[in-house]
Amino acid sequence: MHTMRYIVLMLLLVPLMVLSQSVNVIPRPQEIISGQGFFEIDRTSRKQYREKKDTVKWHRYAETPAYMLRAQVSDLYKSVINVAGKVNDPRLGESGYHLRITGDSITVLANTAMGVHMAFVTLKQVYENADIDSTASIIPHRLIPICDITDYPAYGYRGMHLDVCRHFFSKAFIKKYIDLLALYKINTFHWHLTDDQGWRIEIRKYPRLTEVGAWRTEKDGSRYGGYYTQKDISEIISYASERFITIIPEIEMPGHSSAALAAYPEFGCTGNHLTVPNTWGIKKDIYAPTDSTFKFFEDVMDEVCELFPSKYIHIGGDEAPKVQWKSSAIAQAVMKQKNLKNEEELQHYFMHRVESYLNKKGRTAIGWGEVVKGGLSDSMVVMSWLDKSAGIKAAKHGNDVIMAPRGYCYFDYPQAGDKLKAIWMLPLPLTKVYAFDPMPAGLSAAAAKHVLGGEATLWTEYVTTEEEVLHQLMPRLVALSEALWTGKVRKDYKDFVKRLNTINVK
Ligand code: ACM
Repeated sequence: MHTMRYIVLMLLLVPLMVLSQSVNVIPRPQEIISGQGFFEIDRTSRKQYREKKDTVKWHRYAETPAYMLRAQVSDLYKSVINVAGKVNDPRLGESGYHLRITGDSITVLANTAMGVHMAFVTLKQVYENADIDSTASIIPHRLIPICDITDYPAYGYRGMHLDVCRHFFSKAFIKKYIDLLALYKINTFHWHLTDDQGWRIEIRKYPRLTEVGAWRTEKDGSRYGGYYTQKDISEIISYASERFITIIPEIEMPGHSSAALAAYPEFGCTGNHLTVPNTWGIKKDIYAPTDSTFKFFEDVMDEVCELFPSKYIHIGGDEAPKVQWKSSAIAQAVMKQKNLKNEEELQHYFMHRVESYLNKKGRTAIGWGEVVKGGLSDSMVVMSWLDKSAGIKAAKHGNDVIMAPRGYCYFDYPQAGDKLKAIWMLPLPLTKVYAFDPMPAGLSAAAAKHVLGGEATLWTEYVTTEEEVLHQLMPRLVALSEALWTGKVRKDYKDFVKRLNTINVK
């Protein structure tokens, strides 16, 4: 009797199990209401919807060419997707969306093209993870689970960085990297373009930056290097913008400048002839705080701002040893003349001059955490990397901050089980990245408003090939996306791992 009841129960449950399938999306949406049944895509339904075309609302967005998801997903949906404009839901903001999948329609509601894009990113995952029913017709078709998704990000700034100076990566690879970011709703690519071991952006007024600064002689005598022409850069910026990703370029100062100073020693403190270094570590070379150096930076920023439409320009500021400034008559004279108490204040003076120039051009500067040491201007955005302390200090001061603490966000650090490649590295397992939350505990509401979001960095001293970049990136990028988009209220590591195992992460 019991067995009989059990069988009856099972028979009742089976159709339900078949009819409802969990919706696996990363980053986890804020709200998913699962229905029963499916939107089925096969040749018949596509034909049927084509015939009904005039009843379907079209949006210009669906016609946008060269759009990654269009090729893969929306072609299939062409005739069945409705995209509506403004929605009356204050939660959505500029990146949020509603995605409604019913038995006979798919509807995207969003306030902006960015919101529509985010809905398509979700739809792509839902589509790719949908079961395929190969018995229903000759053409196998996808069973898209009926559901109603409401989604919006916990943090507005969701960044991923790449150092192309220590090792150089091709234009094609940068595009692939951007594709990966887009798949996980990362909206900012921080492109680290200048450092000691290579200057990687063409600046027309200073050709030696790339003629000399983009190349180094390795210990085995081979030449290593490369750079992006302004044409390459424009192409990459357009590619990223089609995916709703902003690129923030980084032009380092006053340290991490050996490659630039090898090209133009007159902007340095020693005037010595330098070669582009082929070793890692912090170098002593530093720009001299002279009018000719500031003119150089103004010229460079003119070309950088002409190329990059981003509101933010990163101007470095980390790891700048002051030994050369201490022994430089020029640096000491500037300190005296400007009444600066120490070399940290001189760094602030230096960076603030460049920042002010950017401000005049309508841009905002970002600096690494060390910029809080010598005095903080009101408008500098602080990227806190050693830990969150510089960011906390800056947020309390009223500055916007981006958190990128190395204990959670340094993707050059080894994955669990990998070998440490340098003594300053710590293992960075997936669980740690997942646990990252940019918001420090105990901030006042006024200070908390200044925490824009978070970012992970990928430095490449020990990451030499494209395969190695992908190895360092994945699947930690996927965890980062959930830390920044989903946020701490809805995150759930166990559930994340389950979803991670069902999606194709590369
Ligand atoms: C840094 O890792 N030096 C910002």
